Amino acid sequence: MLHVEGLTAGYGAGAVLNDLSLTVEDGDRVAILGRNGVGKTTLLRALVGEVKAQRGQIRLDGVDVTREPAHRRARRGIAYVPQGRDIFPGLSVLDNLRVAVYGTGAKDVAELVEGVMDEFPVLREKAKLPGAGLSGGQQQILALARALVMRPRLLLLDEPSEGIQPSIVDQIAEHVRRVNEERGITVVIVEQNLEFAGRVAERAVLVDKGQVVRELATDTLLTDRDLQHEYLGV
Ligand SMILES: Nc1ncnc2c1ncn2[C@@H]1O[C@H](COP(=O)(O)OP(=O)(O)O)[C@@H](O)[C@H]1O
Ligand SMILES: [Mg+2]
Repeated sequence: MLHVEGLTAGYGAGAVLNDLSLTVEDGDRVAILGRNGVGKTTLLRALVGEVKAQRGQIRLDGVDVTREPAHRRARRGIAYVPQGRDIFPGLSVLDNLRVAVYGTGAKDVAELVEGVMDEFPVLREKAKLPGAGLSGGQQQILALARALVMRPRLLLLDEPSEGIQPSIVDQIAEHVRRVNEERGITVVIVEQNLEFAGRVAERAVLVDKGQVVRELATDTLLTDRDLQHEYLGV
């Protein structure tokens, strides 16, 4: 469903991604892994349209979206949960969800919001609290809920386990697997937490020096200390 070919992108003059190619099939669960600063976040931002491609092509279901603005790609079904989450701290949990639904242009706002609060009961409990009043883990759940309420086909998550208590990390891993299996949502996560990546993703894509250098089963990577050392620096 997602084909990236020869993607070069970055900030200003220097390219962070350098002729990067990657294919993600419909229904995949993929983890993008690599040392700090290799360009994982930049890759996700290029996919959603926040970072401009200098060269190369991004195709979604065969359609070239390389030059499309972010909101158009979102309408095509790409949802993105940025590193550090993207909730509105001053808006209530309920309004955070409503704003996400408005963005899709959907008519049945109340119904969609109810549905996502059934899916994540903690959000119903905290519906009236401002986003900033949630714990880090609850904010991550809210960010995930905001992405899912858009009914994406492709879900991009940047370090969802970062700085979150273990019980919520478990919930998120479980939930992401479930939406993949039950709703067929294709999942691409960026992670530093290898164990978490292994629980969510079947396939690992290793990035180094702005390129994909290796693709393998996450199970294989989890048992290969040499590879972990070489590409992840752990
Ligand atoms: N907004 C930005 N402006 C300029 N340079 C940036 C910006 N964001 C990231 N970079 C640089 O791009 C490189 C890749 O960063 P990033 O994609 O965040 O890596 P990762 O997510 O793999 O840790 C780093 O050298 C980083 O300093
Ligand atoms: Mg990053």
